[in-house]
Amino acid sequence: MAYETIIVEIADDVALITLNRPDALNALNSQLLGELASAVEEADASDKVRCIVLTGSEKAFAAGADIKEMADKSFVDMYRDNFFGVEADRFLRVRKPIIAAVSGYALGGGCELAMMCDFIIAADTAKFGQPEINLGVIAGIGGTQRLTRYVGKSKSMDMHLTGRFMNAEEAEESGLVSRVVAPKKLKDEAMAAAQKIAEKSLLATMAVKDTVNRAYETTLAEGINYERRMFQALFATEDQAEGMASYVEKREPQFRDK
Ligand code: CAA
Repeated sequence: MAYETIIVEIADDVALITLNRPDALNALNSQLLGELASAVEEADASDKVRCIVLTGSEKAFAAGADIKEMADKSFVDMYRDNFFGVEADRFLRVRKPIIAAVSGYALGGGCELAMMCDFIIAADTAKFGQPEINLGVIAGIGGTQRLTRYVGKSKSMDMHLTGRFMNAEEAEESGLVSRVVAPKKLKDEAMAAAQKIAEKSLLATMAVKDTVNRAYETTLAEGINYERRMFQALFATEDQAEGMASYVEKREPQFRDK
């Protein structure tokens, strides 16, 4: 499909999706979010793709939802159209792993989009924030819930109430991002991580995504029970037999997603 606000490239089992509204610091408007939802759905359905990387520009992953698009909307517009709800739900239904590679600003909806990915690798220039409070609103694509789960209540309240930005170092210390690298290395680091994931059994990587996300959705006891059943279920796959045989036979596994 041809897109105007994102660029999609497929390289060695990985779909690299680049947000591309440079004049608006990749602000998330309806068109971009719709195109992004379609692109991740396509990647999810493609036999060629086993992992997805989502990135922006060096200056901005995304500076938030598009304020200019939202400014004149009424409650009725927002509620009737389920503003951002439709696209966010489509994005969250993707079963293959998605890595966010964040450089520069990841603010408001940009921070929320990064948090909707499975993990975040940041350039040391990254700045995360939920500054919606400065616009007289609050986060609207999961920020109050996800940031709180990532970094805890105190820091999340601080970010949402003051609108201050968090740099990459603080984001790594508080568990928001998994790794911080030099800006020049960001894309290579994220692509290398994605390639590594792409070498695994897709059945197992999808099971990891599904199961880790249960930690956000349910109680500890139910999550552990879910994990146990999922672990046991993977013994119905050829990839489990291959993975364990390859270890015993001291060779690389040949996973076939079966
Ligand atoms: N929406 C629309 N346009 C945006 C934008 C946004 N979120 N962020 C930046 N832009 C536009 C600017 O308006 C500007 O366009 P013009 O040249 O036409 O004026 C262009 O991108 C470049 O931005 P700046 O000139 O402002 O760049 P800067 O380097 O001086 O500042 C910034 C960078 C600090 C990120 C600043 O752009 C900024 O504060 N942006 C808004 C951040 C924000 O409030 N985000 C939250 C949005 S609300 C939201 O996301 C709701 C939700 O949860 C769903």
